[in-house]
Amino acid sequence: VLGCGVVGEAAVQDLYEYGPFEDLVVATRNVVRAREVLGRLAGRPIRVSAEEVDVHDEAAVAGLMHGCAVAVNCVGPNHEYALRVARAAIRAKVSLVDVNDDYETAFEMFSLDSRARAAGIVIVPGLGVSPGIANVVARAAADTLDAVDEIHISRVMSAADPGGPAFSKHLLHSLSGRALTMRDGRLVEVRSLVDGWERVEFPEPVGILDVFHAGHPAPITLLRSFPGLRHASHKGSFTPAWLNDVIVSLGQLVREAPAAVLVRGRSTDPMDFAAAYLQRRCRSLSGPSRSSALRIDVHGRRRGKRRRVIFATAGRLAPSAGVAASVGAAMLAEGQVRGSGIVCPETAIDAHDFLYEIFTRRDVAKLDDWTEDEPEPVAADS
Ligand SMILES: NC(=O)c1ccc[n+]([C@@H]2O[C@H](COP(=O)([O-])OP(=O)(O)OC[C@H]3O[C@@H](n4cnc5c(N)ncnc54)[C@H](OP(=O)(O)O)[C@@H]3O)[C@@H](O)[C@H]2O)c1
Repeated sequence: VLGCGVVGEAAVQDLYEYGPFEDLVVATRNVVRAREVLGRLAGRPIRVSAEEVDVHDEAAVAGLMHGCAVAVNCVGPNHEYALRVARAAIRAKVSLVDVNDDYETAFEMFSLDSRARAAGIVIVPGLGVSPGIANVVARAAADTLDAVDEIHISRVMSAADPGGPAFSKHLLHSLSGRALTMRDGRLVEVRSLVDGWERVEFPEPVGILDVFHAGHPAPITLLRSFPGLRHASHKGSFTPAWLNDVIVSLGQLVREAPAAVLVRGRSTDPMDFAAAYLQRRCRSLSGPSRSSALRIDVHGRRRGKRRRVIFATAGRLAPSAGVAASVGAAMLAEGQVRGSGIVCPETAIDAHDFLYEIFTRRDVAKLDDWTEDEPEPVAADS
């Protein structure tokens, strides 16, 4: 496991508790924290160890991966590291799961497909919550229909459950500028957390909230995974909602800032400063619920009639990204992931088995699903 922050720690705990592995190696920059996390594990006959590594050093990462059954990348931010780690996995010929949530990186990841195939490995990028669980849920919903034409993912994140510093960097980098959404079979550009307003009902305690397009990989991978799909979107919001505006304006400031700014006389990376500020603002909030929520609406046809299948869940979802990556790693090591090269969670992973592991065996949250009839579209000349 690379990285031992909020997501990495959850992955390590889950792999230790449920994984089929005899050896668990956690490699990260801050090895002291990794040792603390490993020190809290007890009760299973699994060898655990911590290694210090900087993932800028691809050769060192490949060296650590060499001989492993599978690697799990929880280092972030992904726009900085996901491709480096994927290249290291190809070099080491070791299959990999990551939690990449950056859409530009998702595009670039597919360019490694032929190299990953030549190395005889499988790389499953974006196996966290969203992307990740959301994509597999979309597959589960689509499997109940004869044909699918629209998939819409909506996500609400609680500021009281803000993830680690790398997650804040992701928000400022990926959710504060342009985003892509899929309309009429094509990807079109929109403004993240500004365009696409919609009011969505999530399970309690989150309830009804406004969401907006968000810069996420889902439309890119869903377009590849569901031939015939006409519309796909990923929308998001934060509670409290003013955080949307903070992310948009702070992210824009970071993009426009010089390479370094002076903070109390010290030269500081603007992204480090802004991410630390965002973390502090989120962590100082008292009151908001720690519950986040996820809702997936899949529209299509069953037995000739228009139907909409909805799956929705609410709970403390941020650490579940590590749980999803752990489940994916176990499935990968046991040969239960289809395909080779770079594969999408929604095509490579058996949705039933994966969701059983997440929502039943681990019981990370309650997953509700229901189906609604939809009106037939009105012909243009009627
Ligand atoms: N797909 C999803 O649904 C989903 C959900 C949540 C998060 N994520 C993504 O997952 C990533 C991790 O999030 P998080 O909340 O766990 O962040 P985090 O707590 O900041 O953890 C990041 C980890 O990466 C390590 N790291 C950073 N740079 C490194 C380097 N050069 N070499 C080695 N290790 C390095 C950090 O080590 P130090 O402790 O030394 O800094 C830390 O252990 C983020 O990119 C986030 O966007 C995805």
